[in-house]
Amino acid sequence: MSLLQDLNWRYATKKMNGESVPQEKVDYILEAARLAPTSSGLQPFKVIEITSPELKAKIQPIAFGQSQIVDASHLLVFAAYDEYTKERVDSVFIQQELERALPKGFADDYKNNLFSSFQQKTKDEHFEHSARQAYIGFGLSIAAAAEQKVDATPMEGFNNAQLDELLGLPAQGLKSVTILALGYRDTENDWLVSMKKVRIAKQDFVIQLN
Ligand SMILES: Cc1cc2nc3c(=O)[nH]c(=O)nc-3n(C[C@H](O)[C@H](O)[C@H](O)COP(=O)(O)O)c2cc1C
Repeated sequence: MSLLQDLNWRYATKKMNGESVPQEKVDYILEAARLAPTSSGLQPFKVIEITSPELKAKIQPIAFGQSQIVDASHLLVFAAYDEYTKERVDSVFIQQELERALPKGFADDYKNNLFSSFQQKTKDEHFEHSARQAYIGFGLSIAAAAEQKVDATPMEGFNNAQLDELLGLPAQGLKSVTILALGYRDTENDWLVSMKKVRIAKQDFVIQLN
């Protein structure tokens, strides 16, 4: 199947059937997020993989009672840096220098400019930037799930502060951005399963400047 066929197959599943997704498929979906391009290669987000029924049950009320939270096989919480610290920025360039066998300090000018531009921004602006990077990984994971014929619900419908607290994210310098619930559609009980996919027409979506 082509990517476009996969994207037409997928939909934001409203009711999942509780079946488990094989771990190798989840790993594939996680790998798509890890391989996502990010601004300056900073990869300023983590993915928290949740399978515990007890933890899912605690998350459900925080996510406005949405059923996918407990019926999903896995929940992937995309959580972005709350701040670009010097250590976080440095570590990216140290790794690149090591893995590419570059001379020490090879990217110092670039790195110092980057860090000083972050220093002129607020913590909220840092998170706004890091969350945008998390969305790139999130999007690629959504596509990877479709390719693996794993149903998924992209979710922003939850209380971020409460989820952060529950998962202990502040201590890790992280803030939740989105949840990707992975599982399999309950074809009998999902009201959305056979509905037409609705999108803005191409002529209204693409602005061509020739
Ligand atoms: C960032 C984001 C957040 C979303 N949050 C929720 C959510 O909390 N619950 C839900 O059922 N669907 C959620 N959706 C699903 C969208 O409503 C859905 O993707 C959109 O209507 C397009 O439909 P489709 O994905 O079925 O093609 C979200 C989608 C995205 C991309």
